Amino acid sequence: MQSGELIMLKTSHRGKVREFIVNVSEDEFHTDFGIIDLSVMLDKSPGDSVTSHKGQEFTIQRPRMPDFFNHAKRTGAPMMPKDIGSIIAYTGLNKDDSVLDAGTGSGILAMYLGSIAKRVLSYEVREEFVKVARQNMASAGLDNVEIRCGNIVEEISSIEESFDVVTLDTQESKDVIPHLRRVLNPGGFLMTYSPFFEQTKDIRKAIDDAGFYDVRTMEFSEREISFSERGTRPATSRVGHTGFITIARL
Ligand SMILES: C[S@@+](CC[C@H](N)C(=O)[O-])C[C@H]1O[C@@H](n2cnc3c(N)ncnc32)[C@H](O)[C@@H]1O
Repeated sequence: MQSGELIMLKTSHRGKVREFIVNVSEDEFHTDFGIIDLSVMLDKSPGDSVTSHKGQEFTIQRPRMPDFFNHAKRTGAPMMPKDIGSIIAYTGLNKDDSVLDAGTGSGILAMYLGSIAKRVLSYEVREEFVKVARQNMASAGLDNVEIRCGNIVEEISSIEESFDVVTLDTQESKDVIPHLRRVLNPGGFLMTYSPFFEQTKDIRKAIDDAGFYDVRTMEFSEREISFSERGTRPATSRVGHTGFITIARL
């Protein structure tokens, strides 16, 4: 592993998995299970293990987006992986894309988008949320996600860049849509995320009025299967309704 690289240290204690994400450095890392000398990571690879001064063994892994999703600080309801995966699939997001996103929230969607796209510019109206989202990007090692503090409805007219994908997860999405033709590249995709039917109907009207095509509104569900000695069946606790995803193309 290299200096500055993000690593995940995983251990098991009384049947529970505990994990920590840290940077490889010359420092020490203090845990409930003892102190770990991080400089020894320079001679290690993913899959190797390291032992704390109390003798607790940790496995070294490279963290991936689901790990950052689990570890990110939350300021509100984050978008769920089932929805994020669908957005990536239906917009065909790729490494050459620039994305405009609002509102950032804790930056969960922006983080996933940033792990694939060339650049993400995300707007969040609440300054305290901006701080948390910026911390989350730094913790995930993403320097291609820029978070600006501002109201997207007011800022949209002064944005000079153009984008391949626009993702809107705010109550004011319908007021942003009339301005998107100027910033969204021809053939580019718009995604809106809205928890209520009423909000979604307003969004659909704004999308139709703005002349988008290939408009589809979808809800995605996730059903985990539980395995036990008694039998195999859909888990009784589940991710219920999250939001409606509307995808449209310019
Ligand atoms: C549901 S959260 C977004 C969650 C985010 N997509 C994620 O995955 O973490 C909605 C966010 O939009 C912000 N917001 C609401 N109206 C806004 C506006 N007009 N401009 C920018 N941000 C706005 C809110 O403060 C809130 O943090």
